[in-house]
Amino acid sequence: MATRWQGQCADCGEWNTLVEEAPQTVFSSKHDLSSGGRPIVFTPLDAPGELPVRRASGLAEFDRALGGGLVPGSAILMGGDPGIGKSTLLLQVSAHIASSGGTAVYVSGEEAAGQVRLRAERLGLSKAPILMASATSVRDILTTLGNMDTPSLLVIDSIQTMHSDQIEGAPGTVSQVRGCAFELIRYAKENGVTLILVGHVTKDGNIAGPRVLEHMVDVVMSFEGERSHQYRILRSLKNRFGPVDEIGVFAMEGAGLAEVGNPSMLFLSGREEPMAGSAVFPAMEGTRPVLIEIQALIVRLQSGATPRRAVVGWDNGRMAMLLAVLEARCGLNFSSAEVYLNVAGGYRLSDPAADLAVAAALVSALGDKPLSSNAVWFGEVSLAGEIRPVAHSAIRQRESAKLGFAKAFGPSSAAEQDPGGEGGKGLAFTGLGMLPNLVDRILSDA
Ligand SMILES: Nc1ncnc2c1ncn2[C@@H]1O[C@H](COP(=O)(O)OP(=O)(O)OP(=O)(O)O)[C@@H](O)[C@H]1O
Ligand SMILES: [Mg+2]
Repeated sequence: MATRWQGQCADCGEWNTLVEEAPQTVFSSKHDLSSGGRPIVFTPLDAPGELPVRRASGLAEFDRALGGGLVPGSAILMGGDPGIGKSTLLLQVSAHIASSGGTAVYVSGEEAAGQVRLRAERLGLSKAPILMASATSVRDILTTLGNMDTPSLLVIDSIQTMHSDQIEGAPGTVSQVRGCAFELIRYAKENGVTLILVGHVTKDGNIAGPRVLEHMVDVVMSFEGERSHQYRILRSLKNRFGPVDEIGVFAMEGAGLAEVGNPSMLFLSGREEPMAGSAVFPAMEGTRPVLIEIQALIVRLQSGATPRRAVVGWDNGRMAMLLAVLEARCGLNFSSAEVYLNVAGGYRLSDPAADLAVAAALVSALGDKPLSSNAVWFGEVSLAGEIRPVAHSAIRQRESAKLGFAKAFGPSSAAEQDPGGEGGKGLAFTGLGMLPNLVDRILSDA
């Protein structure tokens, strides 16, 4: 929002997207709202009534990310980088719904009907009875929907291309996006339709348009991945009907997005030779373990130039903190070295238990000592250099053992939580109390 004319939007950096809006009437104290209204009805929480029944989309990974399927009368906003596969995924979901007794309406404002048909043909979905249209007028869309049987799913691709003749401004402007979304969501709520809105994202990854859009919908999802990599992750960022930590994993293939039911091996590079600077981390995504390779590279600088630090797939500040702890508590010196950290496979790590694996990768790279290729590392590191307990250590160990790893290193307490190593049969667990233990272990044995 700006209080005067401005050519460029300060939030998203787009030019000529700001529109003028009249200021709202300010209510004076003369307006007394304490009488003249109709009484509202209070109901007990356990009142008999229908609880919404979720509808399976047919794509188990999609349902998992949503917390168990589509809720009728709910609105979902899906963001994602251009070309990541949003239209592909939603066309597949629509096809599943349409082929399993539901009615799916897919409205594209971005592509002509021919283009959508071409995609459907490539995905092998031409026969699916989807009601598909290319339209951008919300009035046309709602009028048409009002004159037919209520569909179970309505996909709008994308909300930024929609416009309403009731609102001034070009499609994609804040007031248009907000107004169109409001009308579509109202239709969905009143008719028990599941609405999926595709949202464009800005350069820094936020959903373009008003932030209020995220408050208006029930679920916000983001479809992530590196376009150069095959894997795509569907994550829910907000969910009024379920947890937000489950992810859905897909692989982009010629025939569309294939579900990856067991993603635990995806993010390992599969090398035979152990290499310095590489550590395997058993991460948790919701209730699922995923093994991820973390790679560190350290380059000693000869000159006094300021060394670079670059992180891909992890938090920058968190790496700076770990480097500081390694320097202060373990006497290592990174100050004249460039440090690069990369999470394999285009994955973005958010699990705090990654600290120990990152530290192991950094120490291994610094000392040029490869870590044992059949070991996994997990644990949170405190500023004092303690290796702190993390959640789900038994599941992490079990999955590592299942995938053929023989050793796990983690917080000392993880052994107590899991007496007798029940978590990972065939996995030797070593508890590391303080970070210097880790450094000694890596730098002493070859
Ligand atoms: N013929 C093809 N074979 C294999 N993959 C293809 C083919 N055509 C497109 N793709 C894949 O599909 C992706 C495009 O998917 P899609 O159009 O669903 O993305 P989107 O997120 O909807 O993009 P936009 O933001 O432009 O709407 C491409 O990036 C590409 O990886
Ligand atoms: Mg698209």
